[in-house]
Amino acid sequence: MTLFRGTFLDTPENPFTGGTLRVATDAALLVEDGLITARGSYADLRDAHPAERVVDLTGGLVLPGFVDTHVHFPQIRAVGGMGMPLLEWLDRYALPEEARMADDAYAPGVANEFVRGLAAAGTTSALVFGAHFASAVDTLFTAASRVGLRITSGLVVSDRIIRADLLTTPERAYAESLALAARWHGVGRNRYAVTPRFSLSCTDDLLATCHTILEEIPGALFTSHLNENEAEIATVTELFGGSDYVSTYDKHGLVDHRSVLAHNVHPTDVELKLLGDSGATVAHCPTSNAALGSGLFPLTRHLDHGVRVALGSDVGAGTGFSLLKEGLQAYFCQQLMGDRGLALNSAHLLHLATTAGASALGLDDVGELSVGKRFDAQLLRPADGSPLAIGLEHAEDAEDALARAFTLGTPADVRAVWIDGQLVNDVEVG
Ligand code: GUN
Ligand code: ZN
Repeated sequence: MTLFRGTFLDTPENPFTGGTLRVATDAALLVEDGLITARGSYADLRDAHPAERVVDLTGGLVLPGFVDTHVHFPQIRAVGGMGMPLLEWLDRYALPEEARMADDAYAPGVANEFVRGLAAAGTTSALVFGAHFASAVDTLFTAASRVGLRITSGLVVSDRIIRADLLTTPERAYAESLALAARWHGVGRNRYAVTPRFSLSCTDDLLATCHTILEEIPGALFTSHLNENEAEIATVTELFGGSDYVSTYDKHGLVDHRSVLAHNVHPTDVELKLLGDSGATVAHCPTSNAALGSGLFPLTRHLDHGVRVALGSDVGAGTGFSLLKEGLQAYFCQQLMGDRGLALNSAHLLHLATTAGASALGLDDVGELSVGKRFDAQLLRPADGSPLAIGLEHAEDAEDALARAFTLGTPADVRAVWIDGQLVNDVEVG
């Protein structure tokens, strides 16, 4: 058993429906085999457990580990492309790099950079867009298992329009997906996600096969892209005989509580209603939407229709792994929308980056630091004199401190990360 002592911030009550930031100052969590079994003031817990080892995390902020609901493993080396909208960026920038994942000598280096990058940014759980090559997806799960991350991922499938070396067939997609799931789904902290790239690159036959695969893997998730860019949407409408984008998935039974659909920058009300009724989640990817010029995310319309929303970094169109940066960009985006935007505070941002993501991914035992949850957490403790250190020193209260963390924090400020109470490799308390 270990007593973790520090200042703990989390969002057990949804701030979009009246909850507020929970703040515990000079508090302690008792963690046994990764499970939080007691929570209270440090003085009280110390008295009750005088013999336990104390890990002193004072002088910083302890947050739940972040949950990234949309990030591309094969794109870590393709961050930073400028000046291209989605379809051109895919052709010229992202997909040539994804094609390199066919090389079994290339993929492991990328996988290691990827899992280290996630952990270093304080991300402990992620729904990851895998690769178009089964051996590369194996490599990702292997690397994630070594670090201990909670990863849900799968084979990315497409059978039209994008470059030929990334295409498969429904038959091959079925066989390779089930083989990967047999190796990894439910093994350690890994789970499988059925992952058609987007309707634009998938025939009805392939999407129907995706539904078959999903039904054959109990507990699997479904993930894809949705309504990101206007040229993309026009092409999808044409390819599917005038259908709206959500229906291209929904007609194959792919839109329900297991579904996480990235972007949805340009939805119709009919689509939002369907998403809200279905229990699906939209992964809001703010830096990506800005970088590709995809548009401003209509958060209020999503919430008005009861659509669940969480946060995704969308590396490599997104600009990095940090959900602090995504939170800040989500805030900027709403500010820029004027009357159509929602004024977000730091509790909203923390919720989007933690509890909302955990709920989207069906991870009921992480996302907050309550008794009965697993201790997946991160310590933000900036170096003396760094921008965040200065900000925290002058914060008025905990909500202001958290706002400064989202505004000024970077992975350099993440001093330690735990999953199931275990310190993650490569990131240590300084
Ligand atoms: N739509 C289809 N593939 C992708 C991708 O890799 N990134 C983004 N942002 N959108 C996509
Ligand atoms: Zn994406």
